[in-house]
Amino acid sequence: MYADRVLSGMRPTGSLHLGHYHGVLKNWIQLQHEYECLFFVADWHALTTQYDNPRGIEEATWQMVIDWLAAGVDPSKATLFIQSQVIEHAELHLLLSMMTPLGWLERVPTYKDQQEKLVEKDLSTYGFLGYPLLQSADILIYRANQIPVGEDQVPHIEFSREIARRFNHLYGKEPGYEEKAEMAVKKLGGKKAKLYQELRTRYQQEGDDAALDSARALLGETQNLSLGDKERLYGFLEGGGKMILTEPEALLTVASKMPGLDGQKMSKSYHNTISLREDPEQVGKKIRTMPTDPARGRRTDAGDPEKCPVWQLHEVYSGDDVRAWVRQGCTSAGIGCLECKQPVIDAMLKELAPIQERARAYMEEPDVVKNIIADGCEKARDLARETMRDVREAMGLNYG
Ligand code: TRP
Ligand code: SF4
Repeated sequence: MYADRVLSGMRPTGSLHLGHYHGVLKNWIQLQHEYECLFFVADWHALTTQYDNPRGIEEATWQMVIDWLAAGVDPSKATLFIQSQVIEHAELHLLLSMMTPLGWLERVPTYKDQQEKLVEKDLSTYGFLGYPLLQSADILIYRANQIPVGEDQVPHIEFSREIARRFNHLYGKEPGYEEKAEMAVKKLGGKKAKLYQELRTRYQQEGDDAALDSARALLGETQNLSLGDKERLYGFLEGGGKMILTEPEALLTVASKMPGLDGQKMSKSYHNTISLREDPEQVGKKIRTMPTDPARGRRTDAGDPEKCPVWQLHEVYSGDDVRAWVRQGCTSAGIGCLECKQPVIDAMLKELAPIQERARAYMEEPDVVKNIIADGCEKARDLARETMRDVREAMGLNYG
């Protein structure tokens, strides 16, 4: 019923590394050309685990935004904002909290996982339990339907769907809903009204999904209905009420996992990262000191790329020709490891150069960054306010 809208958030971790670039940002940059996109800094989410030390969050936010921009996230295409600067997220979170069963939150797998992982922190807090609900508010307040996230976040999207469904079920039925829906059907006009009724019956009685799709398409191309009537009829199709909140889906992409310097996934907690603003000298040094296949103790010992973390970097950075050269040279001891690493260093530096140049420019002009975010926050606020009007009205809280 609404056009596709993409939304994603990142907790503010300060400046980003190549893992973020290959795993997340490249995907965002692609999506911004294809969809309406909203990307935001989830600074309140950072508080769920960092409530004892919130001072660094603001600086981490600005550094992260600089890296988004430097990487190529384009503020003329995507809306960039900060969660806490659109306080409507908090209002929706609060209203949703009233109807969220505790058991649903306790069953979200990340809840126990994270608590066990971060044992040194006391995470038996209200805010931490509510993490997925705050995330639901982030998503639902924009009626975003496509949420690019990693595999680990899929349960949170699933949870958000359930919350949207429950909300629509509880509050989507205005007084006199059935009558109003029947009236709206009539307004479709004889032929269309009849077709709508037939398709609705086929879907509700036989579970015919194709009929549901056709009926939605029919509504999609209908011009003479008010927005309210249209929404009523979308909801009426499925037997429920008005769809006030949209159920989102996870937008999974083939995750390009960026290997770190030790062959494990690149991650700050493994200390195996190359930062987007890493000094070029340092990049060379880090790659040159990377471990290789231990079988190649001497230059004359042959090796096996499959047992070497450098090979995983060739898989990210090298074309077929270079890879063939590596395989041949490694297994025959024809090349040395330093020689093998050079094309990776070159490719990485080539990738980083324009990013670093842009990052420098943004660092020199913090006002430019602040203005981009101020604009984004304003746009986001307008969208959030629109949804909140409908939410308050559905709950009978608009005091108009
Ligand atoms: N929980 C997400 C993460 O840790 C961050 C996030 C917060 C988010 N709100 C969101 C992601 C809404 C997508 C949509 O990665
Ligand atoms: Fe690894 Fe390359 Fe050395 Fe082979 S030659 S062990 S692939 S660094």
